[in-house]
Amino acid sequence: MRNYKKDFPIFRKKRNGKPLVYLDSAATSQKPQVVIDAVSEFYESYNSNIHRGIYAIAEKATERVEEVRKKVAQFINAKNEKEIVFTHGATEGINILASSLRKTFSKNRGVLLTEMEHHSNIIPWQHYTTQQNAPLDFLEIDRSGIVTEKVMAGRNINKSLSTNNYSVISIAHVSNVLGSINSIEKIRNKFVTKRKDTVLVIDAAQSVPHMKVDVQDSAGDFLVFSGHKMLAPTGVGVIWGRENVLNTIDPLLYGSQMIKEVTLSQSSLQNVPEKLEPGTLPLEGIIGLGAAIDYLNAIGMGTIRTHEKRLTEYLLERLCAISGVIVFGPLDLTVRSGVISFSLAGIHAHDVAQVLAESNICVRAGHHCALPLHKKLGVPASVRVSLNIYNDEEDIEAFLKGILDVKRVFSVR
Ligand code: ALA
Repeated sequence: MRNYKKDFPIFRKKRNGKPLVYLDSAATSQKPQVVIDAVSEFYESYNSNIHRGIYAIAEKATERVEEVRKKVAQFINAKNEKEIVFTHGATEGINILASSLRKTFSKNRGVLLTEMEHHSNIIPWQHYTTQQNAPLDFLEIDRSGIVTEKVMAGRNINKSLSTNNYSVISIAHVSNVLGSINSIEKIRNKFVTKRKDTVLVIDAAQSVPHMKVDVQDSAGDFLVFSGHKMLAPTGVGVIWGRENVLNTIDPLLYGSQMIKEVTLSQSSLQNVPEKLEPGTLPLEGIIGLGAAIDYLNAIGMGTIRTHEKRLTEYLLERLCAISGVIVFGPLDLTVRSGVISFSLAGIHAHDVAQVLAESNICVRAGHHCALPLHKKLGVPASVRVSLNIYNDEEDIEAFLKGILDVKRVFSVR
């Protein structure tokens, strides 16, 4: 197995004589040298705004950014680059969609989410349904952290779910807490087919960086994700949608290059993608995203999934064997990604993370921006390990040793 870690400069430096064990990639990923170099090259040799200047460096910047748009389209198998809108992240993507779709649908048409969503895929829809005076419903998850067949079969669900009259269904492809991989197709078949105008939004922030996502198979109408979780810089994200459907979406913000014509009294907008890209785009983020996609493609998304699956299996087996550990989410690796949240009996999640941090082991502790899910799980907080291509067995060993140290520090057997 190739040592991917050496491609990431942050791991070269020891801290207090100890290596960095980074297990918080669901929050943000580390960046390979090729991404850092691409961003530096942008600033050092062709920094300028795009679609404006007619001088050489501006033309180069425009060309490079539009090349990345094509690269993103190919990466998720979109039909063409006009289906790719650059945003500042997945949260912005969901907000753009929620704000615009509210105007598309008549009042009272509700929204369906799952109980595992993170706040960015709950709060915009709470706002939507409050404004629309419409129900906001949640697909139940079972103890193993998946939307069950039972729920899908229409049993054991709250009554309003049976109406099947949703304007929007918005679901995480992969849960940022449980690691569950949702079957979007099954959810679509169950809740969308009867009312064809229901829109299905997929929050793919935790899937696109870790597995092959093909929008032709995804069964969704819109898909959003962020660059910073997929080895690219912060501040860049993507909305995918079919061109004719994207053109029905209104911008959240107005201004700049999005127009065909402006007079003092009114403006007409361009088509997508420009229509939904007001202001200056996060150019260095987009350039970095292009380099990140090249890097991911060179490894292959299949190889990445296999690598992370193998490490997840290795970690789950050992972690589950430690007394006091309760792992949340499914144990079946075919429906789980490399995100593993757990609690440790008698020790608060923050204390676990604090002791691990003393050994340069980075995990996330808390509710991971998924407070309702933690209420459902019956814990105030959990510890989360999330893997990426640069993790290896040594990281897992260091982490497991760290957990035993935590137990020793708190005198928990
Ligand atoms: N959704 C991000 C996480 O899970 C912020 O950490």
